[in-house]
Amino acid sequence: MNCCVVGLQWGDEGKGKIVDILAEKSDVVVRYGGGANAGHTVVVDDTKFALHLLPSGAVRPGTVCVIGNGVVVDPETVLGEIETLSKMGISLKDRLILSDNAHLVLDYHKREDSLREQSLGSQKIGTTIRGIGPCYSDKIGRSYAVRVCDLRDLNKLKEKLVKIVEYKNKVFSALYGGEPMKAEEVFEKCKIYSEKLLPYACDATAYLHDSIKKDKSILFEGAQGCLLDLDHGTFPFVTSSNASALGMSAGCGVPAKKVDKFIGVVKSYTTRVGAGPFPTEQDNETGNYIREKGHEYGTTTGRPRRCGWFDAVAVAYSAAISGIDEIAMMHLDTLAGLKELKICKEYKIDGKRTGFFPSNVDKLSKAECVYETLPGWDEDISGIKDFSSLPANVKNYIRKLEELVGVTVSMISIGPKRSQIIYKQ
Ligand code: GDP
Ligand code: IMO
Ligand code: MG
Repeated sequence: MNCCVVGLQWGDEGKGKIVDILAEKSDVVVRYGGGANAGHTVVVDDTKFALHLLPSGAVRPGTVCVIGNGVVVDPETVLGEIETLSKMGISLKDRLILSDNAHLVLDYHKREDSLREQSLGSQKIGTTIRGIGPCYSDKIGRSYAVRVCDLRDLNKLKEKLVKIVEYKNKVFSALYGGEPMKAEEVFEKCKIYSEKLLPYACDATAYLHDSIKKDKSILFEGAQGCLLDLDHGTFPFVTSSNASALGMSAGCGVPAKKVDKFIGVVKSYTTRVGAGPFPTEQDNETGNYIREKGHEYGTTTGRPRRCGWFDAVAVAYSAAISGIDEIAMMHLDTLAGLKELKICKEYKIDGKRTGFFPSNVDKLSKAECVYETLPGWDEDISGIKDFSSLPANVKNYIRKLEELVGVTVSMISIGPKRSQIIYKQ
């Protein structure tokens, strides 16, 4: 069985936990998009892992981890993660595959990300400053891109970096009044990366197709969420890759028809980090309650997450775009203690009601939410083991959400630990 796990909101839905659970029965776990902007949390007993580039299967020693061609790889981050896990007794030796075609995030990308965001003032996207946009821009532009395979010929890379850094310095100085960088320093770091990363580098697509032939079970791990998808999200307040399931095939070279099940991950409410419209946002006591109870602070940047009610219009759209078969619903424990719960079931835009999410931000900014209000619950549900033991109001909330989104909920998460999961079916 091959599965793809994808976030259906604006990221941080709890993909890391679901991937870790499914990885127990998977041979291979693949990251196919995004970069170190992602922060996927896996909790094993009392240890919390926050993974940015290694697939969440990394903490399961029996799995092979693949970083696909669609990922933008910050060598410092991935090497740091390999070292951290190794110190904890979890080795990636002989079980990490890094695509030769993956693009590298280098220091000038992070500098460019930071300078551009600063220059935008109130118009900024609120990026993670991990160099994601600049690296994907170089990939699309081609001439100034550096890939993992470029680490194989250091002489050629040195020449290339001189040209790239010369160009970047012109941009830094002309557009932002920024300090120049030294090509030599970037190259010296690349020499280290070549020594440390190349042992893992190969044709990852060939590896995956060979795994398919051998009937191995493959788990594809999405990063970010559908509403941050470059083409289908709330542009320009998105990330620079196809974060929906549509990015899966391009990001690792495996067609969607080889995937048996697409699992969408949602929080039982909504969060968003960074700028952009968020129709169900509760910038009030309710939002603060959810933030504190759910520890809604960014895994990558530590920024407080914006919090609001569950948006069934947005999730139904994401599920449609990504071809979702079933949903994993996270953080249901966090909602305990709220008297009433609201679910957005329609938008009213320019006086007209619609159930279809407009990704155009000018339209979306005008959306007024039409809510269904349900009674909340006070019970602590974090220790419950089966669906039938959940309080009636919890079951009602899940059923209403299934009805409005039009997709079945198969897994219900009631806390950060592996054991805090209820299988509905
Ligand atoms: P990801 O980016 O989608 O992998 O999600 P993050 O790791 O950035 O954020 C999810 C956060 O919620 C992490 O701190 C998880 O440990 C935590 N978490 C996951 N599922 C649950 C849950 O059901 N309840 C609670 N309270 N926390 C959860
Ligand atoms: P995971 O995989 C939440 C958001 C940023 C910003 C926008 C663009 O942990 O769910 P970028 O640095 O990608 O150019 O920033 O996208 N963003 C995320 N928000 N979770 C993530 O990843 C995110 N990755 C990017 O906050 O609004
Ligand atoms: Mg995250």
